[in-house]
Amino acid sequence: MKKLRLIPRVVTARPLCCLAVAAALASPIRAAAPAATYPELGPLPVLKVDTAKAELGKHLFFDKRLSGDAAMSCATCHEPQKGWGDDAPLSKAYVGSEYFRNAKTYLNSVHARYFYWDGRLSGRDGPTLVRDSITETHFLNMDGRLMFLRLQQVPEYVEMFEEAFGNEASFGRVLKAVAEFQKTVVSQNVPFDKFKTGDAGAMSPEAKRGLALFSGKAGCIQCHNGPYFSDATQHRLGVPDNPDILDNPLRHITMRSMFKFMGVDNFENIQVDVGFYTVSKLNRHRGAFITPTLREVTRTAPYMHNGMLATLDDVIAFYDQGGGDVPDKDPLLKPLGLTAAEKAELKAFLEALSGDPVIVEPPPEYEYKVISNWTEEPN
Ligand code: HEC
Ligand code: HEC
Repeated sequence: MKKLRLIPRVVTARPLCCLAVAAALASPIRAAAPAATYPELGPLPVLKVDTAKAELGKHLFFDKRLSGDAAMSCATCHEPQKGWGDDAPLSKAYVGSEYFRNAKTYLNSVHARYFYWDGRLSGRDGPTLVRDSITETHFLNMDGRLMFLRLQQVPEYVEMFEEAFGNEASFGRVLKAVAEFQKTVVSQNVPFDKFKTGDAGAMSPEAKRGLALFSGKAGCIQCHNGPYFSDATQHRLGVPDNPDILDNPLRHITMRSMFKFMGVDNFENIQVDVGFYTVSKLNRHRGAFITPTLREVTRTAPYMHNGMLATLDDVIAFYDQGGGDVPDKDPLLKPLGLTAAEKAELKAFLEALSGDPVIVEPPPEYEYKVISNWTEEPN
């Protein structure tokens, strides 16, 4: 696992050339000093996709043969109809266990700088994320060699691997194909993106006022910035703990064993999700999580790492009161004093970050066709 590089959360540096120009233009009438500037909100880059690999990856994403007991696939937890996540506050896990965090959306995740709520994997390494999802006992609990032996017995896969890689199935090629498919699961026709690229009517006046609040009074842009609406940095907001993580032994065991694997000290006595602490091992990061994207947020309820906020109204009310009721929360969170109209405007803006539904129909499930080499031995 790559160690996270902690990046400064407020980008204030400006190129020297601009300072020089500003000095040259200095006039008696001075504009108010601009507040800190943040990476600009705007459309995500369009990625180049290898269609043969992505088509194979799509089949694999929906194929239950990728799990140990051949009973669940990536799509079991990342359902296209449920915003490519799950509508439960906390995710399921491999048979016999339960997970302790909300299933993150797969939609646009190819653009994440760090994967998972705690950012424990680099977003620049798609195949490693797929390997983690396939082999971790709490996800698909599958052995890589067994997996490609299964796939080699399906003639349609033999053909698709040949088409995509000019080669037979292997663990590494499975990882690459699924990572290629991830590039195709991205937003389409997003009102905010259309607005940013010149279609002034693509967002309602209400949503436009919401954008001004987002970037101003409500201060959301301090953490949700850039095309992905995330500063890729950890923050502790003080979201209330989900009691089910303590009450449900299966979730609790998954949480503690994950902390143990991550080398967290005293994991036997931890009762709540320590978040980014598992990565940094710094006390100030206990309960901090990486800022998630806000794209397609209308489809990803319930919200936060533990699904504790049911609706966007609840999320806005949470920020309006200045975040959770915990000591040492992020100093960027302050009571906002939003009026009812402003809350509605902020919500209208968040809604404008969702495009057309991105639905991929599960491909057909191909049968095993075992070709026997057995010949009756002569006596
Ligand atoms: C048993 C449920 C489950 C299965 C099966 C599963 N996932 Fe996930 N996935 C999750 C959960 C839960 C998270 C968030 C985990 C965390 O933050 O600790 C997640 C996170 C992710 C993320 C990170 C998204 C982000 O923005 O950080 C990606 C990408 C992903 N999964 C892809 C896959 C792929 C590909 C497969 C199949 C190979 C898969 N998942 C199988 C539940 C599942
Ligand atoms: C201090 C940084 C920070 C600020 C300011 C901030 N956020 Fe967040 N936001 C986060 C982090 C971190 C999370 C995930 C927290 C968690 O799960 O515990 C998050 C989660 C969310 C989510 C849930 C997304 C999901 O998929 O579950 C929404 C919606 C959201 N923020 C909207 C907003 C809005 C609207 C504002 C402005 C009123 C705002 N945020 C201000 C850092 C911030």
